[in-house]
Amino acid sequence: MIKKTIDIIVGARPNFMKVAALFAVADDYPSLELRLIHTGQHYDEAMSDVFFKELGLPEPVCNLGVGSNSHAVQTADIMVGYEKWVCGNKPDICLVVGDVNSTVACALVAAKRQIFVAHVEAGLRSFDRTMPEELNRVITDSISDVLFVNEPSGVDNLLREGNSTDKIHLVGNVMIDTLKHQRVGASKRQKYKDFGLDGRGYAFVTFHRPSNVDDNDVLKGIINQLTWLSNVMPVVFSVHPRTKKALQKTRLYEELEGVPEIYLTGPLSYVDALSMMANAKVVITDSGGLQEETSALHVPCLTLRDNTERPITIGEGTNTLISGDWVLFREKIEEVGKGIYLKGRRDIQLWDGLAAKRILNVLESI
Ligand code: UD1
Repeated sequence: MIKKTIDIIVGARPNFMKVAALFAVADDYPSLELRLIHTGQHYDEAMSDVFFKELGLPEPVCNLGVGSNSHAVQTADIMVGYEKWVCGNKPDICLVVGDVNSTVACALVAAKRQIFVAHVEAGLRSFDRTMPEELNRVITDSISDVLFVNEPSGVDNLLREGNSTDKIHLVGNVMIDTLKHQRVGASKRQKYKDFGLDGRGYAFVTFHRPSNVDDNDVLKGIINQLTWLSNVMPVVFSVHPRTKKALQKTRLYEELEGVPEIYLTGPLSYVDALSMMANAKVVITDSGGLQEETSALHVPCLTLRDNTERPITIGEGTNTLISGDWVLFREKIEEVGKGIYLKGRRDIQLWDGLAAKRILNVLESI
């Protein structure tokens, strides 16, 4: 049988859990050959390798090894590297996920080589073009041949932008597929014990967006609130490399190390992070993925952003946007303490663990 080859592109941390859902069901699709391509946008053990081990991902058939750099250099390096790969190993389909630089770079190479482009997590819009991810989303969607959408807002956005209905498939959320596969393992892990904590009484914090990290005053404002929060409940803060650099530059890292109820740790593996979230009293973040994961776990989530490209997490989940409003932040912490914070729906549409199958069904039929 001649197989249809699909390059599955990963580069940065949030991509790994999304594509894991596709590889988990790949054996059910013998007519498709899935080839994992790693751009190397993230490369540390804790930002990349650990996810391959935990999520059972295959070895990439190719690692472009681009590493960190400015947006232009990183995107260009990925394009040059992927174009070389495609010249010798042309796939039938290039499948990209999410909104990182690897997503847009590989989509652009494939589209120009007239390779069919599939975008998973299409249509999400924060309507905030100061976010590099928003530009990546808009560009990737505009050059994709098939658009796999997580939530109804994505369909509305894509139709408004002039995409035809036959390109758009509302398939649900592959990250929730992986969460469902890994949840039992995560519940056994009890990662909080590593910090001397017992169960549900803590806040789990992680943030890394340039808008929160790159401006010293904004960063200092967040750290002040975390210090306040540590008097209410213990705070476990998983520090992303970008955030760590900024905290060290401003000497805030040393300050945080001296706060008794703040526990600093590096980036966590997928299962460790899931374990920390599932058992947390509240999660504080600016990550897109964590907004969805906490909604699926029914754990309160306070998002340190002005907007979200995932409105379903507000309408049906457990997410509140804080937008620098620290009065609101403290009110929400009080609601969490009293047990009256949003609980979220049990049955969010298409968050049923079957999104990857819906995607591969479509790709098989094309
Ligand atoms: C990238 C994505 C962002 C995603 C995030 C998840 C883009 C535009 N941004 O942001 O959407 O939410 O990944 O983590 O694609 N670094 C390391 N080790 C690594 C990787 C990075 O130390 O393995 C450091 C480097 O100093 C680098 C910095 O982290 O300069 C930022 O990495 P980068 O990939 O440029 O952007 P992220 O902030 O991670």
